[in-house]
Amino acid sequence: MKVYAMNQLPFGSKHHALRKSTPTIALTVTFTLVLFTVFPLCYPLLGYPLYLLKSFSKSQISISSYVAVKYGSIYENESEQKCDIFTGEWIPNPHAPYYTNTTCWAIHEHQNCMKYGRPDTGFMKWRWRPDGCELPVFNPAQFLEIVRGKSMAFVGDSVGRNQMQSLICLLSRVEYPIDVSYTPDEHFKRWRYPSYNFTLATFWTPHLVKAEETDAYGPTHTGLFNLYLDEFDEGWTAQIEEFDYVIINAGHWFYRPCVYYENRQVVGCRFCLLENVTDLPMYFGYRKAFRTAFRALNSLENYKGITFLRTFAPSHFENGEWNKGGDCVRRRPFRSNETSLEGVNFELYMTQLEEFKLAEKEGKKRGLRFRLLDTTQAMLLRPDGHPSIYGHWPHENVTLYNDCVHWCLPGPIDTWNDFLLEMLKMEGVRSYEEKLDLSDRKMKLR
Ligand SMILES: *[C@@H]1O[C@H](CO)[C@@H](O)[C@H](O)[C@H]1NC(C)=O
Ligand SMILES: *[C@@H]1O[C@H](CO)[C@@H](O)[C@H](O)[C@H]1NC(C)=O
Ligand SMILES: *[C@@H]1O[C@H](CO)[C@@H](O)[C@H](O)[C@H]1NC(C)=O
Ligand SMILES: *[C@@H]1O[C@H](CO)[C@@H](O)[C@H](O)[C@H]1NC(C)=O
Ligand SMILES: *[C@@H]1O[C@H](CO)[C@@H](O)[C@H](O)[C@H]1NC(C)=O
Ligand SMILES: *[C@@H]1O[C@H](CO)[C@@H](O)[C@H](O)[C@H]1NC(C)=O
Repeated sequence: MKVYAMNQLPFGSKHHALRKSTPTIALTVTFTLVLFTVFPLCYPLLGYPLYLLKSFSKSQISISSYVAVKYGSIYENESEQKCDIFTGEWIPNPHAPYYTNTTCWAIHEHQNCMKYGRPDTGFMKWRWRPDGCELPVFNPAQFLEIVRGKSMAFVGDSVGRNQMQSLICLLSRVEYPIDVSYTPDEHFKRWRYPSYNFTLATFWTPHLVKAEETDAYGPTHTGLFNLYLDEFDEGWTAQIEEFDYVIINAGHWFYRPCVYYENRQVVGCRFCLLENVTDLPMYFGYRKAFRTAFRALNSLENYKGITFLRTFAPSHFENGEWNKGGDCVRRRPFRSNETSLEGVNFELYMTQLEEFKLAEKEGKKRGLRFRLLDTTQAMLLRPDGHPSIYGHWPHENVTLYNDCVHWCLPGPIDTWNDFLLEMLKMEGVRSYEEKLDLSDRKMKLR
């Protein structure tokens, strides 16, 4: 059993059709494309990612029965159509990093690895190369133009905050935000980019649903939580309606002992050691939590945002569990043929994807968009990107002494924002194609 402490821890391909139809909109789309298509664009579509097909066709787990990969893209070049930006390899990038701890103040203390003496810098000097296309390096000016007048929320745990801080640092070459938080609680930060009228926010909800800590200690010294699996966590659900983009994540907190409630009744628990309470796997709570979080978004009357599920990023403890000497001391990324997603990581990932698909289907009925920010494979390959012992001074007594969960900044997590920007660039085209699809269907019905 692994327990981690983190207390303060797409589709059709009618690009040519786009241009011939309705001139004004087509012009806008084309303009957007000219503006943003510096590199070939590729597009992750509905269905399971390619790397799973690759890594599992030969493995013990038979997922082929529920794997349905549908690909398409907006390429002019048909031979480049099949590109999943989330399947690829890490390749050397001598130009990275694009910020340092002196140019960016947003790096969280425990992820400021250089400050705490990390001796090597090689982990910053890689970029993600998808199989069959390029993922452009983050362009802060372009990002800010796309999100002008919009708002974006990170909903979830400290790994979500880790991504937001990476984003602030990447954007800092153009502008720093001002703090417009409505509470002194660091778990709920709000930032505003004045020149772009862009708002960035974090909502702390590591379990996504209503939860309370009933014992700070608990069976594994990581607390014991009551999780109300069918109840919204109003800390975020009451405020999320106004957001244009919601990036949701959860994972590592579900390793901790907790008691599962449904309809206010105990239905079981995960390693709670309470008499007469059935022990259930963590996937039970994890699935229900995502189901409830997605149900919250799909039920909000005024919510019109795009929901991104940022998929689980595996930790890399080796030679022991997090509290039993486990550490992450590798200094190079894996190649994709050197490791594969298995065990708990695989289960968590598949659980997310299944709930995501259900939510996406439900959302479509209301015109809500759900997108998969599928970071799992890329991060599985980065055992070298964590703070390890460089998240604090050696003499400091911190719970997660060897941190193989979070990611150093700058570091591989910066790539999540390369993915995010690429997805935002695609969004205009994609939603236009969806409309075309819809009007196509209406035409046929007539
Ligand atoms: C299409 O893409 C393939 C693969 O990248 C490339 O080899 C080929 O030259 C491209 N063809 C055109 C017409 O651009
Ligand atoms: C930045 O990192 C350097 C080591 O590369 C360290 O000496 C310095 O204290 C750090 N500065 C801040 C503000 O974290
Ligand atoms: C800023 O954006 C918000 C939407 O996020 C909009 O309601 C507001 O009018 C904008 N303000 C300015 C000054 O453009
Ligand atoms: C557990 O169940 C047994 C048998 O039904 C009962 O005698 C016992 O009191 C229960 N324990 C608690 C703590 O509810
Ligand atoms: C992985 O692929 C690389 C390059 O294709 C090859 O050199 C290496 O031997 C492979 N490693 C394994 C473990 O198959
Ligand atoms: C670290 O803190 C824990 C809990 O506060 C305490 O039990 C332990 O003795 C401390 N260890 C050291 C080396 O100070």
